[in-house]
Amino acid sequence: VQWDFGVPDIRIAPARALGRAYGRVLRRHAATVLAYDRYSDAPEAPLKAELIAMLSMNRSLAIEPDELVLTRGSQMGLYLIARCLIRAGDLVAVEEPGYSPAADLFRRLGARVAPIAVDGAGIQVDALAALHAERPVRAVFVTPHHQFPTTVTLSASRRLALMELCARARIALIEDDFDHEFHYDARPVLPLASVDSARVVLYVGSLSKVVAPGLRLGYVVAPKPFARQMEALRRLIDIQPDLVQAGAVAELFQDGEIPRHLRRARRIYGARRDHLAALLRARLGGVLEFELPAGGLAFWCEVDPPIDVEEWAKRAQALGLVFRTGRRFYLDQRPRPFVRLGFGRLDEREQAQAVARLVRAIPRQRSA
Ligand SMILES: Cc1ncc(COP(=O)(O)O)c(C=O)c1O
Repeated sequence: VQWDFGVPDIRIAPARALGRAYGRVLRRHAATVLAYDRYSDAPEAPLKAELIAMLSMNRSLAIEPDELVLTRGSQMGLYLIARCLIRAGDLVAVEEPGYSPAADLFRRLGARVAPIAVDGAGIQVDALAALHAERPVRAVFVTPHHQFPTTVTLSASRRLALMELCARARIALIEDDFDHEFHYDARPVLPLASVDSARVVLYVGSLSKVVAPGLRLGYVVAPKPFARQMEALRRLIDIQPDLVQAGAVAELFQDGEIPRHLRRARRIYGARRDHLAALLRARLGGVLEFELPAGGLAFWCEVDPPIDVEEWAKRAQALGLVFRTGRRFYLDQRPRPFVRLGFGRLDEREQAQAVARLVRAIPRQRSA
């Protein structure tokens, strides 16, 4: 069993509806979606229109089509942003613990990557300001809604401070809002990009959680000149978006399938979150400590210090259970007493089986 670190359950994805939408698009629009896009007029326009409507209605983002760049997932969005923004030697700040594919990308482009600590209120903006005072920071990468991996939401005062700092210092603020929709007890918090009067935010979104990760469909919202640069670079990698897919996903939005799926998914994941919380408290109460996450698809748990978390993971693997330990969310990869446990992909029975293996695998505690 692979215990995921927070991915959706593909078994509930709207696969049938997607299949029907592909069929309809190929029947009705083959002449445009199967051609090079330069021979027709903005064939990706219907999908862009749907995304713009969604971003406006659910996230208070008011944008125009040429501020929206379609990508193959948010990872490609991050790549395009980084490639257009960062030069070798630039200093880029990232959250720590954080999302290592972003840090890996910045390093690959020759940036110096500086970790900024995350606490219960999100990234420590004072530490970012102090770093910038020492040496100019080109960009900061953040996941403010459900911080990856700790799940905390950036507090209101930190949001203000971060926006103010980035606007004043002209630090590009890369906002990765990878699982915006999954918020359980209250309404989702609006993106930083929705209050970005200084236009410093590059906003990255994805349909990996909304529909399915295997689709590889994401987008970036950026000021027009920057979006144009990204489009030009994108064309060097991949001549055009997947127009068949773009058409099919636009149809899923148009016939209400995506909002319907999201309502259902939110209900299911909310119940699974509560179920896993109860299970972990009952079976691993003295071993794992966690706050119930307001959103996202995973728990961030602190492991009781006498337990060697890497040893625990090794023993679990021998029992057929793989889970992610804290080390992979830190730049230095040194062991840390945390685990990130997804609650979306496993149903209640599977959660019980996985937790039973976790319990069996607990290593004998080191003597003090
Ligand atoms: C922080 C973060 N960003 C982005 C993604 C998704 O990437 P993509 O849209 O490329 O599937 C994930 C997936 O787990 C993630 O955790």
